[in-house]
Amino acid sequence: MSTTSTSTTAAATVAEHAADTARPLLAESAAGHHRILTGDRPTGPLHLGHYFGTLQNRVQLQSQGLELMIVIPDYQVITDRDRADRLAEHVENLVLDYLAAGVDPARATIFTHSSVPALNQLMLPFLSLVSIAELSRNPTVKDEIAHSRQAAVSGLMFTYPVHQAADILFCKADLVPVGQDQLPHLELTRTVARRFNDRYAAIFPEPQALLSDAPLLLGTDAGKMSKSRNNAITLGADEDETARLLRGAVTDPDRRITYDPDHRPGVSNLLLLSALCQGRDPHQVAEEIGDGGAAVLKRTTTEAVNEYFRPLRARRAELATDRALLRETLRAGSARANAIADRTLDEVRAAMGTF
Ligand code: TRP
Repeated sequence: MSTTSTSTTAAATVAEHAADTARPLLAESAAGHHRILTGDRPTGPLHLGHYFGTLQNRVQLQSQGLELMIVIPDYQVITDRDRADRLAEHVENLVLDYLAAGVDPARATIFTHSSVPALNQLMLPFLSLVSIAELSRNPTVKDEIAHSRQAAVSGLMFTYPVHQAADILFCKADLVPVGQDQLPHLELTRTVARRFNDRYAAIFPEPQALLSDAPLLLGTDAGKMSKSRNNAITLGADEDETARLLRGAVTDPDRRITYDPDHRPGVSNLLLLSALCQGRDPHQVAEEIGDGGAAVLKRTTTEAVNEYFRPLRARRAELATDRALLRETLRAGSARANAIADRTLDEVRAAMGTF
């Protein structure tokens, strides 16, 4: 099966999951009774797609008073590659991105997989609750196997969605802000929670996905924005680099600028990016540029991005000089996550009758 058709199949199946697991962002009145858990693999810095897709949501939810937990799933890095390269650097960069974007280190719990043993131990009973057939039809895993750098599929690749269920259930999170591709994992997490509750004792809530309502931002080549495809503008990029990347963005020769994502993906993506940065409608931005062509579009977008991200980038640069704060954020996060995971594992032991 070709890469393209695998992705299309994955997208179709993912969409079927969307209806039952996803719901829009919460009304303000619902704040206070929820624990949010989400995470990003430490494989590189976050980019503008992450920012508008999920990071902005998390910060908003936190400011509504919801409790925010962020896992940096370092064990998931080795699902599709042999080694996790430059891990410490990637983890620190993620923490920098979070704090610069407005995650409050005093209220949020940020931790890595590998620093919370009891979380990982939950994977054992959880694995017993799912069948090999269920694991093998997960569309996101199939897609990742198709894009993997490894010749053979490892046991961890096959079972990491169960690990992800442990990430979410160890702290009894009820809301998980993620992108569409993660919905099959959320569905599996709900299945694991339900089966554990039925078989042993009612310990786990069934979490729900929260999807961002911002349309998907593409990379500068008008393909999926991704760290590994060299088409991403990172949060920490400086203004010159942003200008350079946007100058090289794929557009089309039609001088009249219109917002038409289906037929003009490159042009429309720049309009969307400008609009997101300015809190405006992309059609309106297009109208203003009129017959200015791609050059004006790129200049407008560069200014919008640089202006919007200037304060975040300044904070990021300042925080980058404070390695001690980053380390302390992770240390405190890990201590808190361990306390929660130990409590949950005790409950699981009692429910299962193990010692
Ligand atoms: N699998 C997610 C990704 O690839 C990262 C992740 C790991 C995650 N554990 C999680 C996301 C728990 C949400 C909740 O992006």
